[in-house]
Amino acid sequence: MVVVAKTSEVPNFGKKVVTVSGREILLVNVKGTLFAVENECPHQGSPMNAAVVKDGYISCPRHGYRFNLVDGSCAEHPECVLTTFPVQLTGDDILVEA
Ligand code: FES
Repeated sequence: MVVVAKTSEVPNFGKKVVTVSGREILLVNVKGTLFAVENECPHQGSPMNAAVVKDGYISCPRHGYRFNLVDGSCAEHPECVLTTFPVQLTGDDILVEA
């Protein structure tokens, strides 16, 4: 796991894009729980940092596909799965396994 950000950089209901090994990862804070997903929609590649986060789902801004933040699944379009990454908090540090 690598340190990618400080918790203060991703406030509640906030997002932040970080780069790990050349890959853009979007950090999402939902009421203190941190999620990490690929910053690229598996449908047609739209950046996910402009996505709307609600009720445990992140919705792509382009065509509205909704992905589960925990496992990246999309109930309406099961062929599209958003890549998710394990996240760990250590003190003020956010660590991601990518
Ligand atoms: S590019 Fe994300 S839903 Fe189409």
